[in-house]
Amino acid sequence: MFCNNRISLQLALLLLVFSALFSFSHQASGVVYENEDNLVSWPSRRSVAEDATGVSNSSLILAEKRTYRKDPSDSFKYYKRGWNISEKHYIYSVAFTAAPLFLIAALWFVGFGLCLLILCMCFCCCQKRPYGYSRTAYALSLIFLSIFTAAAIAGSVVLYTGQGKFHMTTTDTVNFVVNKSDTTVENLQNVSGYLAAAKRIRLNQFVLPPSIQNSIDSVETKINSSSATLEHETKKNSNDIQNVLDAVRLALVIIAAVMLLVAFLGFLFSIFGMQYLVYILVIIGWVLVTLTFILCGIFLALHNATGDTCVAMDEWVKNPTAHTALDDILPCVEPATAQEILSESKNVTFQLVVAVNQIIVNLSNVDIPYGLPFSYNQSGPLVPVLCNPFNPDQTDRKCTAGEVQLSDAAQVWKNNICEVSGDHCISVGRLTPSMYDQMVAATNVSYGLYQYGPFLADLLDCSFVRDAFMGIQDEYCPDLRLYSRWVYIGLALASGSVMLSLIFWVLYARERRHRKYTKLIRNSSAPNSFEEKGRP
Ligand SMILES: *[C@@H]1O[C@H](CO)[C@@H](O)[C@H](O)[C@H]1NC(C)=O
Ligand SMILES: *[C@@H]1O[C@H](CO)[C@@H](O)[C@H](O)[C@H]1NC(C)=O
Ligand SMILES: *[C@@H]1O[C@H](CO)[C@@H](O)[C@H](O)[C@H]1NC(C)=O
Ligand SMILES: *[C@@H]1O[C@H](CO)[C@@H](O)[C@H](O)[C@H]1NC(C)=O
Ligand SMILES: *[C@@H]1O[C@H](CO)[C@@H](O)[C@H](O)[C@H]1NC(C)=O
Ligand SMILES: *[C@@H]1O[C@H](CO)[C@@H](O)[C@H](O)[C@H]1NC(C)=O
Ligand SMILES: *[C@@H]1O[C@H](CO)[C@@H](O)[C@H](O)[C@H]1NC(C)=O
Ligand SMILES: *[C@@H]1O[C@H](CO)[C@@H](O)[C@H](O)[C@H]1NC(C)=O
Ligand SMILES: *[C@@H]1O[C@H](CO)[C@@H](O)[C@H](O)[C@H]1NC(C)=O
Repeated sequence: MFCNNRISLQLALLLLVFSALFSFSHQASGVVYENEDNLVSWPSRRSVAEDATGVSNSSLILAEKRTYRKDPSDSFKYYKRGWNISEKHYIYSVAFTAAPLFLIAALWFVGFGLCLLILCMCFCCCQKRPYGYSRTAYALSLIFLSIFTAAAIAGSVVLYTGQGKFHMTTTDTVNFVVNKSDTTVENLQNVSGYLAAAKRIRLNQFVLPPSIQNSIDSVETKINSSSATLEHETKKNSNDIQNVLDAVRLALVIIAAVMLLVAFLGFLFSIFGMQYLVYILVIIGWVLVTLTFILCGIFLALHNATGDTCVAMDEWVKNPTAHTALDDILPCVEPATAQEILSESKNVTFQLVVAVNQIIVNLSNVDIPYGLPFSYNQSGPLVPVLCNPFNPDQTDRKCTAGEVQLSDAAQVWKNNICEVSGDHCISVGRLTPSMYDQMVAATNVSYGLYQYGPFLADLLDCSFVRDAFMGIQDEYCPDLRLYSRWVYIGLALASGSVMLSLIFWVLYARERRHRKYTKLIRNSSAPNSFEEKGRP
């Protein structure tokens, strides 16, 4: 009952984990009023109105405001059906948010490629006629080169630190979900264990009615299969997610390292005038920067989708009964199955208490003269009956005076135990030790099942998923946002600086060449120029 939706849930969580990698994500929200034909259906106004009346029973559009974006697959009209990862228009509209970065990548690739080509042609054809050397241009290009190299190094460091913390947070988030799932599985198994114990209960002649025994078997099978599925899927998916996260981390570390190396080497090579190495590095950097921008674009689209998921979860948590696109991915137990488990456990609790009370009322508390049937010489204060937590129709029941709570029964009944010889009392008391043990065992099972009632009710109304979503929202979203921002800033800083350094490598190399050339000329006319001393 869990399995069919697990994969989509994990996908959503994966998206979430990438949340806020890039922070310029809300571009859609501010500009919508300008859009002529959509004023009537301005998203948040409608949903707010619906929420206020509390009857948004039909279909709630999740993250409607956030997902209000241009949809390239629908002639750039605004997409307005909200968060829905099975909707291809939604996917396209999210992907489209990364368009600026892809555009930058393309412009950079083509533009810088053309520059390189022109430069190369100049280098080959007009090399012999260098133009005047300007000391200012030389100094400026050196200064900028140093600044951008420093910025690239800083960017790499931020990227590296950020990805470390980001990885930690994402791992925590995954563990949180896994823990939730493990707890659910453990609870289910405990319920299953109590039901199995209930079957083994023997109270004098009493055993649970065969009809209950049969339904316990069927419920137990269902619990076993669903908890096994949940456990298996969680393990598998968390491993998958962890692998993806590790891969992302590796990619980010490599990018940080390569950016650092390229910036550093480029700086060295151009300072020391190793022209060919500089040009090789320029080519490498040209491709690298293009790839980094494409990566940025992919991360931006992913980030926007996850931000949407975060908001969608939030809205769902506030509105759990509405029918939403999240329903498709919620691992809620089928209501029928959960209802069956809950009802069965209530019924078993109820029946066991009834059986125990029957023994107390009809046997222990009856003063039958010793020697008659059913007498075991019981005497003394009456044994208090158990408080049944349920009515026969399974509604909750309040205890009346004189009834003992399930949790206290074992303690209270101790006072009613008599000493025995054979199977009859030889001292004051109404319970033989073996009766006491049987009754306490039945009470324990009853109490155990009763305690899992809230858990089973959660299972039924899906609030355990709500709890998980809420926990993610409260505890992990802020950290994810913060550290993913570090990653983003580092990535942007590193790629931007390397991009600009590239330009200055070339400029500096050119200035350096002119300087050398000018010096050469000057040297031949003024041989004792001090500037040239010690220069290679
Ligand atoms: C909710 O929807 C159900 C059927 O989908 C309908 O019977 C019920 O009246 C609706 N409730 C409200 C408050 O709109
Ligand atoms: C799992 O969650 C429970 C509370 O829900 C907490 O007490 C426990 O320490 C967690 N376990 C781990 C390994 O995080
Ligand atoms: C399940 O039962 C075991 C043994 O009674 C107990 O230690 C454990 O805490 C229970 N698990 C949960 C989730 O309540
Ligand atoms: C509880 O179990 C008994 C015995 O199997 C059955 O007759 C009764 O209908 C059940 N009650 C409910 C509410 O399921
Ligand atoms: C359910 O699983 C428990 C152990 O987890 C096992 O003892 C029991 O026999 C299983 N019951 C069914 C009906 O498969
Ligand atoms: C989500 O999109 C799918 C595919 O277009 C569609 O079938 C489904 O009804 C949508 N869900 C909601 C809640 O709009
Ligand atoms: C005592 O036994 C009689 C018949 O054996 C039964 O009708 C009655 O309900 C029992 N009393 C209680 C409290 O179970
Ligand atoms: C029955 O119990 C009383 C105490 O309540 C005891 O004095 C008496 O000896 C017992 N009778 C037998 C036959 O054990
Ligand atoms: C019943 O539960 C109590 C604690 O809740 C435990 O000490 C006792 O051993 C249990 N008795 C049986 C018979 O399971």
